[in-house]
Amino acid sequence: MTMPTGLKLVLFGPPGAGKGTQAQLLKERLGVEHVSSGDLFRHHLSNGTELGELARGYMNRGALVPDAITIGMVIDRIGQIADADGFMLDGFPRNTGQAQALESALHERGQQIDRVIHIRVADDELIRRLSNRYICRVCQRPYTRDAATGAPPEGCADCPDGGDIYQRDDDTSEAVANRIAVYHQETAPVLDFYAARGLLANVPGEGAVATVNESVLRALEGNADEVFP
Ligand code: AP5
Ligand code: ZN
Repeated sequence: MTMPTGLKLVLFGPPGAGKGTQAQLLKERLGVEHVSSGDLFRHHLSNGTELGELARGYMNRGALVPDAITIGMVIDRIGQIADADGFMLDGFPRNTGQAQALESALHERGQQIDRVIHIRVADDELIRRLSNRYICRVCQRPYTRDAATGAPPEGCADCPDGGDIYQRDDDTSEAVANRIAVYHQETAPVLDFYAARGLLANVPGEGAVATVNESVLRALEGNADEVFP
């Protein structure tokens, strides 16, 4: 299947839905830039920047970082991407204020979002996934603890030196519960924002990673509300 170039997408879904996992696959398939607000914050945190220090407390307890910090950071990053390259947002927008700010910023550049892919996963599965997740500190690729042995991955398959595999500070059970609650209260209303613009595609997110990826690609081709009612 062929995809248009310069696609501008939003990967949407609750914490642990598989946005980062699907983004890694789509990046190769579509050639668009991956812009993850969480990865941008973690980059600031590991570099000890002022922005990172401002974000740390919110992130560790699973709350949203205030819009005054978040919106500028993401809009600046998108502004560095050539129109023809396209991008895939992961973790942004996370409330309707952010969705409106994004729409306005893109409008000023004569751009718009082409499609919003909502990866749907039930809360109990999200909790299971996040408690078993490990991340590569270098490239941010997510991994899962071995189901049989419970052992973490030995290293990152994408990084030449094996990366540095760790568990995120906000994957504690308390922070995960809060992130899921915040998703339902503050983030889920963004679905209505995009449904009203005819951009929303709902995709089942509980199959194998490759199966979910096929569903995402089908959703990018056409009207996924018809494909996945
Ligand atoms: P962020 O980094 O965006 O975290 P999140 O939205 O909570 O999403 P996750 O990264 O936890 O999950 P994911 O959907 O990417 O799943 P993944 O692919 O890793 O945000 C962190 C914090 O930063 C926020 O709490 C907030 O404080 C702040 N922040 C970020 N953006 C913000 C914004 N816009 N406004 C305000 N604050 C903001 O997969 C999860 C696990 O499941 C992995 O182990 C993976 O291997 C596994 N997995 C994936 N797919 C499957 C599958 N199909 N089957 C089985 N396992 C799977
Ligand atoms: Zn890596």
